[in-house]
Amino acid sequence: MKIRTLSAAGYPIHIGKDVFRELNRMLNYSELKRSAIFVLVDENSLKHCYPVLLRQVKRLKEAELIEVESGEENKNIDVCTNIWSALSSLGADRHSVLINLGGGVIGDMGGFAAATFKRGITFVNIPTTLLAQVDASVGGKLGIDLDNLKNEVGLFTDPAAVFIYPEFLSTLSQRQMLSGFAEIVKHALIADRKYWQEIRDASPDESLEAFIIRSVEIKNSIVKKDPKEKGLRKVLNFGHTIGHAIESWSLEGGGVQLLHGEAVAIGMVCEAWLSAKRCGLHKSLLNEITSYILRTFKTVRLDKFDDLRLIELMKHDKKNNSRDKINFTLLSEIGSAETDRICSVEEIKGSLRYYREQANLIG
Ligand SMILES: NC(=O)c1ccc[n+]([C@@H]2O[C@H](COP(=O)([O-])OP(=O)(O)OC[C@H]3O[C@@H](n4cnc5c(N)ncnc54)[C@H](O)[C@@H]3O)[C@@H](O)[C@H]2O)c1
Ligand SMILES: [Zn+2]
Repeated sequence: MKIRTLSAAGYPIHIGKDVFRELNRMLNYSELKRSAIFVLVDENSLKHCYPVLLRQVKRLKEAELIEVESGEENKNIDVCTNIWSALSSLGADRHSVLINLGGGVIGDMGGFAAATFKRGITFVNIPTTLLAQVDASVGGKLGIDLDNLKNEVGLFTDPAAVFIYPEFLSTLSQRQMLSGFAEIVKHALIADRKYWQEIRDASPDESLEAFIIRSVEIKNSIVKKDPKEKGLRKVLNFGHTIGHAIESWSLEGGGVQLLHGEAVAIGMVCEAWLSAKRCGLHKSLLNEITSYILRTFKTVRLDKFDDLRLIELMKHDKKNNSRDKINFTLLSEIGSAETDRICSVEEIKGSLRYYREQANLIG
């Protein structure tokens, strides 16, 4: 049987093309065998993934389907209320199970709805985007947005299990694939030099399943040591201090519309430059990271970029401990990250200038 199972902090993560045998076993032979089953989808996972799941997991023929509209703008309390109401009116009880079939929005919001419905029912996540498979699937963070504040309301609760079926990615757009791929690149850069070399030298399509497994292993091993994000887990923020600011700026109408991973890719180039300046990353490695990222991800002309606005956004990021200090996770080597590095406004501006120069050289 081709299946890889990792044990996360409190739950198994199954990866491979035979994962649904394991889901069948869970639904037919565990204490869940008499539970009512609910499946949460959006229109895309309903169209592309649900039929595949239904063919492989016969018990889902009796499941109730709950559909919500796709998109980050729907990851909010109103849609969550609709999910609670649907569960309630369809007769869900404390023994019911919610299966979240979709990207990170479905996983985060469905998990949040399940973890709070009747003080918490069992839920299972089946992530169907690359970002959700390699990132949101691990770590037990659930939540919804509040107005324009991302993940402002939520909690840590583990799913009963996660099932990663890489073939679901065949219907994902190339743009969404690359957005998820940015997190794979990040995992290699912060934790595993050999993995970075494999990524650099391979074609992503060929080795995707192996990359998913390695990335989940890396995130899992970090999260296991710091389940509630007290310290170590901050290594996962590499590329994200600047990346989040660029993402927010693009959502504010900054001129370019960027997906999370596209913004993080830019953030990684800037923060690699800061790593060379402040953390001893060798210049040749900075060049290697920059040229790989610029040729793999969409380069964005940041001429219209308002550096001061970006720095303002960084100061307001909840991941920074204090309002006036901007906190970074930087690389001392490829495969080795250091947290809580404070950089000055001038240094940050320098890193944005570096991205601009490099992106204009290539694009
Ligand atoms: N909990 C965590 O630790 C964690 C980590 C990272 C990100 N997140 C959250 O995840 C969300 C982003 O996740 P995402 O990028 O998966 O976004 P998403 O859920 O919005 O999915 C992106 C798009 O792909 C569509 N889609 C999903 N599966 C598909 C498939 N197989 N084929 C075709 N289309 C498909 C969706 O309907 C959507 O339109 C954010 O809300 C973010 O906060 C959470
Ligand atoms: Zn991210």
